[in-house]
Amino acid sequence: MSSTPGSSGLILDEGLLWEKGKKGRRGFSMPVRDVDESPLPEGLEGDPPDLPELCEVDVVRHYTRLSQWNFGLDTGMYPLGSCTMKYNPKTNERQASLPGFIGAHPLLPDALCQGLLRIIWETGACLSEITGMDETSLQPSAGAHGELTGMLLIHAYHEHNGARKSKIIVPDTAHGTNPASAALCGYTPVPVKSNDRGVMDPEAVEAVMDENVAGIMITNPNTLGFFEENIHRIAEIVHGGGGLVYCDGANMNAVMGAVKMGHIGVDVMHLNLHKTFSTPHGGGGPGSGPVAVKKHLSPFLPVPRVVRREDGGFRMSSEFPLSIGKVLAFHGSVGVIIKAYSYIRSMGPGLADASRLAVLNANYLMARLKGILHLPYDRPCMHECVFSDSFQKDHGVTTLDIAKRLMDYGFHPPTVYFPLVVSGAIMIEPTETESRENLDEFVLALETIVREAVENPALLHSAPSLSKVRRLDEVTAARKPCLAG
Ligand SMILES: Cc1ncc(COP(=O)(O)O)c(C=O)c1O
Repeated sequence: MSSTPGSSGLILDEGLLWEKGKKGRRGFSMPVRDVDESPLPEGLEGDPPDLPELCEVDVVRHYTRLSQWNFGLDTGMYPLGSCTMKYNPKTNERQASLPGFIGAHPLLPDALCQGLLRIIWETGACLSEITGMDETSLQPSAGAHGELTGMLLIHAYHEHNGARKSKIIVPDTAHGTNPASAALCGYTPVPVKSNDRGVMDPEAVEAVMDENVAGIMITNPNTLGFFEENIHRIAEIVHGGGGLVYCDGANMNAVMGAVKMGHIGVDVMHLNLHKTFSTPHGGGGPGSGPVAVKKHLSPFLPVPRVVRREDGGFRMSSEFPLSIGKVLAFHGSVGVIIKAYSYIRSMGPGLADASRLAVLNANYLMARLKGILHLPYDRPCMHECVFSDSFQKDHGVTTLDIAKRLMDYGFHPPTVYFPLVVSGAIMIEPTETESRENLDEFVLALETIVREAVENPALLHSAPSLSKVRRLDEVTAARKPCLAG
């Protein structure tokens, strides 16, 4: 522990537990021994492990202080565009933590985990219903993993039909993982520029469509926060040329109960349960990226699959000879699936209201902020709105400065410098769980920051000034992370 008092007010300094330990300190009291001491069996003597000796209060304060250096969804508004960082109801965590689920071993025979198999089966059915698709696999463990699975399904489909194709069309408003997933599957991504409304033109797709195109990957709503309004016509063009339509449905939080992708030409799509369905996206996992398909792609879905037996029970089955095989061990990210199930069942038709509110909140922020931040696409948005720093640049203030200064006002920064189609992008996704008061406070903070950008830009250059860790050299922080002290 440092020898100087905590330097950030109530955000206290904290050293390593090893530095805190004192010989003889205990977190428990053993009863007085009432039997004779007996030596350890031969081979077990020797030096004890080098563990710090601590009392309970040391340990509790250590971890509580560390948690206070962080900012989470339970702390405040987290408008990280493209990540749908909404508040996740605690009841869903509780269901996923029920002892029967936590204690279930992944190798349990089907007969001993019927409840779990039923939840997996029913969650798949709910997601198929929400998306308008025919069948859903819950195996993939992340959005990008779902994309790769979807690409493998498209490849398997074409191969089965004797077609060899080499290209996937990817618009410039797609999520960054889309072209990477296509390339990982061996396809060459073919870029398509969006139009001045921030969406794809059917003519632009037509221009690159040929017999070598295996499909198109459409992020919908896209990374500018717009619904791809021409998707139906685009799907006709791609299908007409022998290709399939993949939808990156990670932004489903904007359209639940309003749009069924399966009804507007999509053949295969993924969802991010760890955005829309009650698991936060940040934190590095675990996640779940289910893949939903129309009937013609069902035979290729990963195995093993949960299938319903004739007696109403469930079993895992690998009897699908055209399957692409396994993409993850065991049953998928079970904890995340249970939370999604609990969320869907407890929300019911309210899922549509959640989407409506997410869209309303984003449009409210867009309308309130468009005078003070540059809005490159000035039209109603879906779940997120994208600004740029071009008004502030004259004062030498950049997107990064604005984002860092927001931390001093108690907000997690928005996503910055993404999507790439907007230079200096500031991408704000408030989600449905923020109240009008929270949104107004966020607007007030940004109004103050843009005033500071004119009157005292140095304040912004040195921000954040109230956090435990100040402005980092982000490249060094990523390349040489210092995780201790
Ligand atoms: C639209 C979109 N697609 C795909 C992904 C990738 O998901 P994951 O980070 O789980 O791989 C994300 C993640 O934010 C996303 O926003």
